[in-house]
Amino acid sequence: MTLSPTTNQPPVFQNFIGGRWLTAKSGETFTRANPARRADITGVYQKSSRADLEDAVAAATQTQPAWAATPAPERGEILLRTAALLEQQKEELATLMTREMGKILRETRGEVQVTIDVARFIAGEGRRAEGETLPSAFPDKFCLTLRHPLGVVGIITPWNFPLSIPAWKTFPALLAGNAVVLKPASDTPLLSLKLAELLSQAGLPAGVLNVLTGPGGVLGDALASHRRVNMISLTGSTEVGRRVAEVCGRDLRRCALELGGKNASVVMDDADVEFAVSSVALGAFGTTGQRCTATSRVIVHTAVQKSFTDRLAAAAEALRVGDGLEPGTDMGPLVNAGRVKAVHEYTQVGLQEGARLVTGGAPLTNDSYSEGAFYQPTIFADVQPQMRIAREEIFGPFVSILPISSYEEAIQVANSTDYGLSTSIFTSDMRLVFRAMRDIEAGLVYVNASTTGSEIHLPFGGMKASGNGHRELGSCAVEEFSETKSVFVSYPPHKG
Ligand code: UN1
Repeated sequence: MTLSPTTNQPPVFQNFIGGRWLTAKSGETFTRANPARRADITGVYQKSSRADLEDAVAAATQTQPAWAATPAPERGEILLRTAALLEQQKEELATLMTREMGKILRETRGEVQVTIDVARFIAGEGRRAEGETLPSAFPDKFCLTLRHPLGVVGIITPWNFPLSIPAWKTFPALLAGNAVVLKPASDTPLLSLKLAELLSQAGLPAGVLNVLTGPGGVLGDALASHRRVNMISLTGSTEVGRRVAEVCGRDLRRCALELGGKNASVVMDDADVEFAVSSVALGAFGTTGQRCTATSRVIVHTAVQKSFTDRLAAAAEALRVGDGLEPGTDMGPLVNAGRVKAVHEYTQVGLQEGARLVTGGAPLTNDSYSEGAFYQPTIFADVQPQMRIAREEIFGPFVSILPISSYEEAIQVANSTDYGLSTSIFTSDMRLVFRAMRDIEAGLVYVNASTTGSEIHLPFGGMKASGNGHRELGSCAVEEFSETKSVFVSYPPHKG
């Protein structure tokens, strides 16, 4: 069984349901093109509907009990074999990802490596303690906890990490004994289908993982309201998260939501400014600003504001924007033309609100740029906390600089948005480091580092509108996808 395009030009990819590659029942498809060169069609995908989803859920429901009965170490072995296959195909997968999503090869190679690391990490969970043993308050009694799979899990993933996010949800869901229906973002379906192919080659039984492509509105709602789906795990926008939470809430269905961010780096007057500039440039413009952890605000002490702003502008202007497949490129395109329009609207908003445009602020349209969805790295200064560009998630190469004159004010401004995913502080004062660890309202806190770059063996997730309190990865990875059972065993002596 292989994921082979049914024609060569352009390649057509099918859904993976019940261990088979199938076309959508409607017969309809949609097309995805390289965001750096729109003439390069990367794939034609199935436009699935509720009928296809029914088949996927039925396959998952049927196979889940046997999968749950498979010993956890054995489930883990499949992930280890998947890691080996990913490693063999690392370069090919990275290239496909850059062509489909746009980010530069250095980043897509890193993403494949993260996926390999997650597979190995989660595989090990199959041989680790699954619960606790505890003393009973009564004589001749023993207490313990066990994990229980949820059943069928629906996974909905975004386009900015087309391989690692599907993997870091799917691997622990499978390890925990669940069957999965995965719905990848329509901008980047290919790597999820590849993942299904590799898991299947590694020995995952048919029907345990099903992947179908198509419109998020239709399939997301259908998945979140399906009576046989016991949980939804979503990474996406806060808007979509609210919708999924509402639908799941009606049936008291568990949902784990990883949503937006309006992440800030605080730069204090005693910071190493040059180091802060290079870290912020990476956090703001890496992945073309399209990370939920991207640095979107820089809260800078007035004492270093001018030198910081000048240097950040120079760093932004030095970035080579272009096709992510070309070795010299620092920043690729946005994921599609609609995103260029959305980011440009925020430039207009920033100007109307009276912020000062320092650099950028326009789509790139000349020469080779005319074929793709390119936007200049953009910096606004003199931004006030109540402005929309300081509060709303922009998801592009766009950063707002806000002036502050004390630590207290910096924390107040950093915490003043609806979101709480990632915040960093640059300072050389140890007391401020510890105060910031305590005072920052975010699930991820960085000291003298950018807001991006979390590591997979630590919990990942945010506070406030950045999620609904769940954490993924790290010590929370398997817990997210399982129930805890408390067991009480009495063993009184025999009478007579
Ligand atoms: C996301 O942007 O959706 O820490 C999550 C980081 C990445 C975040 C990925 N691991 O920047």
